[in-house]
Amino acid sequence: MRVHRQPIGLRQLLDEDLDSVCADLREEFAAMAGARLLITGGGGFLGYYLVQAALHWNRGRAAGARIEVTVYDNYLRGVPEWLEGLRGEAGLSLRRQDLIEPLPRDIGHFDYIVHAAGIASPIYYRAQPLECIDANINGLRNLLDHAVRQRAAGRPLRGLLFYSSSEIYGDPAATAIPTPETYRGNVSCTGPRACYDESKRFGETLCVVYAKQQGLPVRIARPFNNYGPGLKITDGRVIADFARDVFAGRDVVILSDGSPRRTFCYVTDAIVGYYKALVRGGDGEPYNIGIDRPEITIAQLAELVVKAARELFGYQGKVVLGRSNEADYLVDNPNRRCPVIDKARRELGFDPRVLPEAGIYRTLIWYSHNPLAAAA
Ligand SMILES: NC(=O)c1ccc[n+]([C@@H]2O[C@H](COP(=O)([O-])OP(=O)(O)OC[C@H]3O[C@@H](n4cnc5c(N)ncnc54)[C@H](O)[C@@H]3O)[C@@H](O)[C@H]2O)c1
Repeated sequence: MRVHRQPIGLRQLLDEDLDSVCADLREEFAAMAGARLLITGGGGFLGYYLVQAALHWNRGRAAGARIEVTVYDNYLRGVPEWLEGLRGEAGLSLRRQDLIEPLPRDIGHFDYIVHAAGIASPIYYRAQPLECIDANINGLRNLLDHAVRQRAAGRPLRGLLFYSSSEIYGDPAATAIPTPETYRGNVSCTGPRACYDESKRFGETLCVVYAKQQGLPVRIARPFNNYGPGLKITDGRVIADFARDVFAGRDVVILSDGSPRRTFCYVTDAIVGYYKALVRGGDGEPYNIGIDRPEITIAQLAELVVKAARELFGYQGKVVLGRSNEADYLVDNPNRRCPVIDKARRELGFDPRVLPEAGIYRTLIWYSHNPLAAAA
């Protein structure tokens, strides 16, 4: 992926990203031609490219060869402008649906289901822990039961992808970093993050039970720090927070001592991994979806954001240390997080390659085209 050191237009940015996703998913999208795909939580950050990649692939294809995309979302924070802009696009249907509620009676059948609905940002799930738990457990259970009913009616599902999280590993022991799928985790079941971590863990248990007992083609993705276009600037995740500081014209504030280490996976790489897991993954199998290098500190990430903003927009700020107003902000926050992705490489052909520099420049350019988000 190119590093753009000068701002480019939004269309060019999206086309480059979507072309690259579709090229990497040539075989998977061809296998999905004519299929009905349900994306829950399609109005969110990952939904942004999950939905747009399938529609990008559809362009110029006849009705029977398209992937028919249905989005369910409760639009808790409003219908995003980009999704409104796609309303009426061939092959797309949108529905306001809370996954905590029973599924609609007229749901019909789907060939593929991606369950991405949920509350992903720590700031929001700490405020709404029950809603977070319900989407990961009851929402998932409803979809799995629907898949069982569908099969009984002669319309078997071809794949269901559940979004778990790297958080299911909690704060891994030093010997378990980088972390493979076989690591069982070091997680608090009562701490401020438990509603998220434990409901993802139990969601995985549900997936495995339905795969084993019902023979359903259920796959599990464990995302590791994805970022990029589509991530709301108000979301509270670290790159969004840094971008918010940049566009507000103030210094970039680190809300820790800057030492926690992470790998950051640009969204195009991640989306390729998710569709590959959906189509090719083993039944009941979890896959780490992230990038395994470079592992950088939050302080290095902040410096990279400042450098990119300076080059792109003449930003004058610097990196400073601060403190969150939230008492629980750093409680149970792991010190290092880095995935082993050998299983996804081997079984899915997953090969992430966008390095942080290219991804950060692209992300800041995307924010610069979203003045509403930037002003928030
Ligand atoms: N982005 C990451 O790096 C990351 C990391 C680990 C796990 N995940 C998981 O991936 C999934 C998608 O993450 P994201 O970053 O796109 O999150 P997001 O918050 O940007 O999007 C989630 C979407 O789900 C919708 N939603 C929430 N509760 C719902 C409900 N009850 N019914 C219907 N819709 C509901 C929201 O309105 C939102 O549009 C989540 O399950 C998240 O936990 C993401």
